[in-house]
Amino acid sequence: MTAKILVLAGDGIGPEIVSATLMVLDRLVRDFGFAAEIEHAPVGGAAVDVSGRPLPDETLRLAHAADAVLLGAVGGPKWDALAPELRPEKGLLGLRAGLDLFANLRPALLYPQLAAASTLRAEVVADLDLMIVRELTGDIYFGQPRGVRVLDNGERQGYNTMVYSESEILRIGRVAFETARRRQSRVCSVDKANVLEATRLWREVMTALQQSEYPDIELSHMYVDNAAMQLVRAPKQFDVMVTSNMFGDILSDCAAMLTGSIGMLPSASLNAKGRGMYEPIHGSAPDIAGRGIANPLGTILSLAMMMRHSLGRPDLAGGVEAAVRKVLDQGLRTADIHTAGTQRVGTAEMGAAVAAAVTI
Ligand code: IPM
Ligand code: MG
Repeated sequence: MTAKILVLAGDGIGPEIVSATLMVLDRLVRDFGFAAEIEHAPVGGAAVDVSGRPLPDETLRLAHAADAVLLGAVGGPKWDALAPELRPEKGLLGLRAGLDLFANLRPALLYPQLAAASTLRAEVVADLDLMIVRELTGDIYFGQPRGVRVLDNGERQGYNTMVYSESEILRIGRVAFETARRRQSRVCSVDKANVLEATRLWREVMTALQQSEYPDIELSHMYVDNAAMQLVRAPKQFDVMVTSNMFGDILSDCAAMLTGSIGMLPSASLNAKGRGMYEPIHGSAPDIAGRGIANPLGTILSLAMMMRHSLGRPDLAGGVEAAVRKVLDQGLRTADIHTAGTQRVGTAEMGAAVAAAVTI
């Protein structure tokens, strides 16, 4: 079977980290008999520039037709003044909604080689391995009504709506519990049930789901403010954390920094059929774009997740992940994870080193 992979490089550092990742994919094709048909399409600001829209119909059509999508990053100051529906981020949100990618897996893993790159003391983060399961197609990100209106007194008022229906909570809950079954069988559900009705329902539904279908999984609940604090105080207490779209956005950046750099974290966004889009959790980093210094490892590890979750090749996933560990052992570091005594390399050099280090 030939895997159809759609590559969406996007904006900022997107094209650089994606081309480093394609070096690794090329190696899988060239030396390990992996059959892939690779297509490229524009999304985000790059798509606005060529077509006037952040998600051209053709890009969405190709995404539907692909077995998996690899995405770099979208956004940048160049497009900041555009109307909300034309912003690059709408391209990303349109893909998530269009492909129904409701389940976002964001693993935060500390590679022991990077313990010194974390801003937290090594003993707090050593051996960290937590999985954030973020709901990705609901909540205030997509809730209606939304907008900016003019009040009677002439003042403008911005408004958004946080909404969750039971079925949305159930399906992300199942993903979290199933994920926990393959790990340490513990789920912490994060909400703001003391204040927000939508998340009070979230807590009720999670509790009922655990009781009826997952009695073997330990479920705990935590308010989001406390969860943010616990992530930096004692992050190793968590196994799987399940939360809403917005809380997950915030907490996953926080979890990323525990691992030394946001540049290290991959993600998988999956729909009910296991089809998915794979992207690093960081953004387009316009401040360093075009300089060849961005860390491609989050994107390379996203390719590994793609092999495991959508393309049925856990062997290749493991091979790529082992290659990342090898280059870290060799002491190669991009600027964001560089510490005294290690060798600073650029984006392409890192991609080439990982590609060369793959063994299956
Ligand atoms: C992320 C990003 C996106 C989000 C932005 C770029 C729309 O921050 O994937 O975490 O908020 O989901
Ligand atoms: Mg984010």
